[in-house]
Amino acid sequence: MSKPGTPDNPLRVAIVGSGPAGFYAAGHLLNAKKLPDLTAQVDMYDRLPTPWGLVRGGVAPDHPNIKAVSRVYEKTAAHPEFRFYGNVEFGTDVTHDELVERYHAVIYAVGAQTDRQMGIPGEQLPGSWAATSFVAWYNGHPDYADLEFDLSHERAVVIGNGNVAADVARMLALTRDELECTDVADHAIDVLADSGIREIVVLGRRGPAQAAFTNPELLELGEMTEADCFVDPRDVEIDPLSREWLEGDEADATARKNVDILSGYSSREPAGKRRRIVLRFLVSPIEILGGERVEGIRICRNELQRDGSGALRARATDATEDLPCGIVFRSIGYKGIPLEGLPFDERRGVIPNQLGRIAGEAGPLTGEYVVGWIKRGPTGIIGTNKRDAQETVDQLLEDVGAGRLLEPADPNRESLEQLLDERKPEHVTYEGWESIDQQEREAGEPQGRPRVKLTRFEQLLEAARERVSS
Ligand SMILES: Cc1cc2nc3c(=O)[nH]c(=O)nc-3n(C[C@H](O)[C@H](O)[C@H](O)COP(=O)(O)OP(=O)(O)OC[C@H]3O[C@@H](n4cnc5c(N)ncnc54)[C@H](O)[C@@H]3O)c2cc1C
Ligand SMILES: NC(=O)c1ccc[n+]([C@@H]2O[C@H](COP(=O)([O-])OP(=O)(O)OC[C@H]3O[C@@H](n4cnc5c(N)ncnc54)[C@H](OP(=O)(O)O)[C@@H]3O)[C@@H](O)[C@H]2O)c1
Repeated sequence: MSKPGTPDNPLRVAIVGSGPAGFYAAGHLLNAKKLPDLTAQVDMYDRLPTPWGLVRGGVAPDHPNIKAVSRVYEKTAAHPEFRFYGNVEFGTDVTHDELVERYHAVIYAVGAQTDRQMGIPGEQLPGSWAATSFVAWYNGHPDYADLEFDLSHERAVVIGNGNVAADVARMLALTRDELECTDVADHAIDVLADSGIREIVVLGRRGPAQAAFTNPELLELGEMTEADCFVDPRDVEIDPLSREWLEGDEADATARKNVDILSGYSSREPAGKRRRIVLRFLVSPIEILGGERVEGIRICRNELQRDGSGALRARATDATEDLPCGIVFRSIGYKGIPLEGLPFDERRGVIPNQLGRIAGEAGPLTGEYVVGWIKRGPTGIIGTNKRDAQETVDQLLEDVGAGRLLEPADPNRESLEQLLDERKPEHVTYEGWESIDQQEREAGEPQGRPRVKLTRFEQLLEAARERVSS
């Protein structure tokens, strides 16, 4: 048998996860410029019946232009050597051993599937939610469709100063008209549109200069139809350490512009809109208060100080304040979870790797790679995953050249499909996804919406079984 990568012995690669990282890796492999004569076959698995990862289940419904990136992935999926196997969970429906027995290489692109914890009392009280759950619920992720969010309270608190916190604050402030033209899950429209929340307080543990918002997302908070954005002028007074930081090489243009935007908000006269978004800085939650459910949050005032590495960190002072509220969204970051059969860095929530090659105790694992958030942690926009996937695929191609791949006993596609037919007969092919996609878009059209999402596994699987009409 010839070396893998030829027409009679194609390079067989499994990619676990069909988010941006998985799709960019597939695209780089199927159109490998460094090895133009390479014949590769990519089989992509996802535990959901639908592809695109957080582009479908994370990106905010009122940002349809960002979701249009899926057109790039559709081109990759149209490659004749690409297959999609949705509704197949790695570790449950297919095991690590079954993949390494059938492929020359496996790339894990599973993202970060859970949330980081703060470790403060009251974090688990009813009414204290991980932003990950809220985001998945309003985006129609089938695991979260049955959650119930009680938005009858006057005040909501969002913890964190990243773009997910900005998404959550914005979604809580959109009007019915603004929601009804999006692909937000149907079950979320009335809950969000009829919400009683009048004030959304967003808490940053460091100062305005260290907020992780990007400029367009921060600007959007100041342009809401029915919400004033409010910043206390005392909160945007820049402390000496931040001033030094902003004027030195450490701060980037985004941070400087954020400070300007926030200063602008602090001098605005409120327009008397129905709701207000209050951005607060240098405060940390120390306890979520309440007996049976969330009734408030205790926060402490912070100061900035440089740690041993020179980074600016928040340090708690003795000054505390209790803020009554009925619901809390903890938006302090996503976190990866371990995968069966693979090493895991518990602290960082990633699979340890060197440039994408999975690092075992005795060196790199042969033929096993990572991309995206499970490789580098839960930061970076969609485009970041393109460069990241290129780095990993470059290592894989180097290993093809050096013959450092898995040696599967049975690398043909038929044996894999036979296994799936027996193990998971209701797996969803790419044609099945196209059928779901078409039905969702058709349901959206009369309502002037991009799609009406199917949000239950049974509905999705039934739609996948129906043929795509031409
Ligand atoms: C709420 C939110 C909003 C965002 N909005 C934007 C935005 O507007 N613009 C922007 O540029 N970036 C945005 N991002 C960032 C962007 O979504 C990420 O950079 C990107 O999705 C990470 O890609 P990934 O492929 O590593 O992970 P993911 O997109 O999470 O994809 C992982 C995939 O793996 C699958 N999977 C997980 N476990 C298994 C398993 N055991 N077996 C099989 N499949 C599995 C999942 O179902 C999922 O489909 C946002 C992120 C979040 C959280
Ligand atoms: N529109 C978009 O482009 C878009 C939308 C959504 C997400 N994204 C991207 O997706 C990635 C993930 O976003 P994210 O918002 O989840 O993460 P993030 O950008 O890393 O922000 C996390 C925030 O949580 C804070 N935090 C962490 N631990 C905390 C604690 N214990 N107490 C209080 N605050 C705490 C962080 O503060 P410190 O800085 O002090 O650590 C930071 O402000 C980011 O790269 C983001 O840009 C992009």
